[in-house]
Amino acid sequence: MRVGVLFGGRSAEHEISILSARYVAAMAAQRGHQVVLMAIDRWGRWWFDAMAERMLAEGPNVVPPPTRAITPSDRLPPWERLTEVDIVFPVLHGPFGEDGTVQGLLELAGVPYVGSGVTASAVAMDKAVAKSVFRAHGLPVLPYMVLSWADVARWPHATIADVEARLSYPVFVKPANLGSSVGISKVTCREALWPALAEAGKYDRKIIVEQGIEAREIEVSILGNDRPQASVPGEVIPGREWYDYQAKYEDKGTRLVIPAPLSEELALQVREMAVTAFRAIDGAGMARVDFLMDRRTGTVYINEVNTIPGFTPVSMYPKLWEASGMPGDELVDRLLHLGMERHGQSKNIEAHIVAETDQQPS
Ligand SMILES: Nc1ncnc2c1ncn2[C@@H]1O[C@H](COP(=O)(O)OP(=O)(O)O)[C@@H](O)[C@H]1O
Ligand SMILES: [Mg+2]
Repeated sequence: MRVGVLFGGRSAEHEISILSARYVAAMAAQRGHQVVLMAIDRWGRWWFDAMAERMLAEGPNVVPPPTRAITPSDRLPPWERLTEVDIVFPVLHGPFGEDGTVQGLLELAGVPYVGSGVTASAVAMDKAVAKSVFRAHGLPVLPYMVLSWADVARWPHATIADVEARLSYPVFVKPANLGSSVGISKVTCREALWPALAEAGKYDRKIIVEQGIEAREIEVSILGNDRPQASVPGEVIPGREWYDYQAKYEDKGTRLVIPAPLSEELALQVREMAVTAFRAIDGAGMARVDFLMDRRTGTVYINEVNTIPGFTPVSMYPKLWEASGMPGDELVDRLLHLGMERHGQSKNIEAHIVAETDQQPS
């Protein structure tokens, strides 16, 4: 297949995306696919050929900064470049890539792509919406509140009183739509609550305040469309107090333990929960499902679903499949075929609708 590896993007995870794309491109090539690089820079401009290759090899700084204001058309790809591939593998993390926006663009163009469609991508990216969907499917979520930044800014004292009435310190304050722990704070006392809310409010108009627990972090990889398979669970042991931005990307002390040391029963339970969560959001192809396990009570709560998980050589998603007996090149190959399969399914439905419309008497 001619595989468009789409990477970079406007989110805070731009550099991680480049590392992930290196791995995906190498694995696709190893399987004999022809890789076409498609890069999006921090400003949203699309690059192909030599500049995309340099971005992949050397990092984001090879791109010249814009010399004039970016226009909407700068942020749209040249269609003929997008449609010259058989399938696109979006290796973009966070907003404007993992959230359904790029998936919508590809749907509109009719280009097959790897991974979840618009709905699952958008639902998974919004922590507030995702939690209501998880709850509706009987998955345990930690107690939480959804606040609008406008209300918080207008009624700070009432907000603080409300949080204290419903949750107890420590609480985690998060922007609803972000990743990489950006804008997230652990709050242990009243004095720190307002600054944390203001920080989250910088990134989103919607804020989540969640009951904090002393947690083990358990993750499961999912692969498949209609019959999703779950990998063995893994555990992240952050080198810091919690898995913040530094722990994720800068701290060499963070360790992955595969398989996670869990009883057989519990391992089975989280794998089932991961499949339920994937189905609940209508996921496709791949996802990494993250859990928080209360160290005191042993209760496992679902935290979030990442529809485009990290694909760096040290990332949990490919490592869990490796531990489950599937090497990286096979994994990427399977994902490409799952993307084609999903595209075929929607095309069949489309053809059916067109055929039926044609039969209507005029
Ligand atoms: N309710 C919580 N209790 C304990 N730790 C938490 C809680 N919520 C988040 N964390 C910590 O913060 C990290 C990032 O939170 P998460 O919701 O996963 O956001 P992101 O989408 O940025 O990864 C988690 O990996 C965990 O270490
Ligand atoms: Mg997370």
